[in-house]
Amino acid sequence: MTEAVASGCPMHDNVDRRKSAKLAAKMTKPDGGAHWVKKPSVARAILRSPEALQAGAGAEMLNFENPEHMPVFFLDGADHRKKRTKTQKFLSPKAVSEQHHTIMREVTDELLAEFQRAGTAKLEDVSFQLAIEVVGEILGLTNSDQAGRAKRIQRVLYASIAQREGNFANRILKFQQAFHTGNFFLWDVLPAIKARKKAPKNDAISFYIEEGYSNMAIVVECLTYGAAGMLTTREFIVMTAWYLFEDLALRQRFLDGDSKEQINILLEILRLEPVAAMVHRRVNAEVEGLGEKPMPAGELYGIDIRAANVDEELVGECPFAVDPDRAQRQRDTGRYLSFADGPHNCPGWQVALHETRIFLEQLFKLPGVKLDREPDMSWNEGVKGYELRNAMISCDKSA
Ligand code: HEM
Repeated sequence: MTEAVASGCPMHDNVDRRKSAKLAAKMTKPDGGAHWVKKPSVARAILRSPEALQAGAGAEMLNFENPEHMPVFFLDGADHRKKRTKTQKFLSPKAVSEQHHTIMREVTDELLAEFQRAGTAKLEDVSFQLAIEVVGEILGLTNSDQAGRAKRIQRVLYASIAQREGNFANRILKFQQAFHTGNFFLWDVLPAIKARKKAPKNDAISFYIEEGYSNMAIVVECLTYGAAGMLTTREFIVMTAWYLFEDLALRQRFLDGDSKEQINILLEILRLEPVAAMVHRRVNAEVEGLGEKPMPAGELYGIDIRAANVDEELVGECPFAVDPDRAQRQRDTGRYLSFADGPHNCPGWQVALHETRIFLEQLFKLPGVKLDREPDMSWNEGVKGYELRNAMISCDKSA
């Protein structure tokens, strides 16, 4: 799969070694009727436009009675801004460093102690458990048994983002969605709501109760954060671990680096292997830069994150090299379009980066740690991104 893309780069070989490139080239395409946007300047202009509306994940088919209680992903304009501001306190850099670091470290220690006892593990199970516990703590999903919760969350999230063709298949899917959502509500969300009605905490469910959300609206919020924050981080951890297992020099740099350096390394891997390949917007204004004439208002656009993230216009020279110094050279945060841009950009990016950083640092310090089996790769149309499965890792067993 290795393909020389360009030569003459003064610093790197600039060979395209992206693990997901072949699969993504086959699978990444915009939704029906959407214009395919690959140019970073046009992509950013659309994502940042005040006239752009969320059009991904079936957003255009949803209708909530009370827009205040609609998940942030599906809101636009003033309602969206209001909700982002109100929920920012759970995801701000301050909350990440003062509140969430503790749970990230605690869950990492628990999971790695278990890994050392067993001597072997499936990496995506460990990364999913971590992502579930971290986002679960932010939401307040902490009043049910951990192992059962992980299974129920996995089932409900996969059912809620699944798509099937045909009437019969669709009816079965609807039944599965209702069944798994009901289970998740009864076993995980309801106990959390009851506990917080008695004693509110500094978490999202306590806030939703205070704002008068219905039980159903709270479940929908939990599912939104689950799909946005748990499914994505699960894949991100496996992909970054895979790179660091393979590239010893990069791993050493990661282990020797401070948290900023570690984050720069993770961001570079994410730039090349973005978990979300494409997002959609409908723009109620003319859009320039896609042809000779401006596109009329009201058109739908699929923003190709993968293409933009390797465009020299956005990321500078040697776009295919993992270069942790790139962001500083480009005077960029290093996020590029990996977490999208504009009003709907990912509010959980600091959470994802820090939990991954903390986990990988501890993982690679374990004696004898190695990757025994590389992951298989498949595509998840719901998230519009790759999935990594059956990555087996092992380490020296603890006594
Ligand atoms: C590596 C992990 C992650 C990646 C790659 C990622 C990526 C993204 C992207 C690309 C979007 C924009 C979607 C769009 O514009 O249509 C987004 C939105 C969002 N993400 Fe993340 N995300 C990650 C982790 C997280 C985490 C950990 C959380 C929560 C703690 C989270 C919560 C959200 C929410 C709530 C939105 C919707 C924001 C809005 O519409 O205003 N994400 N994410």
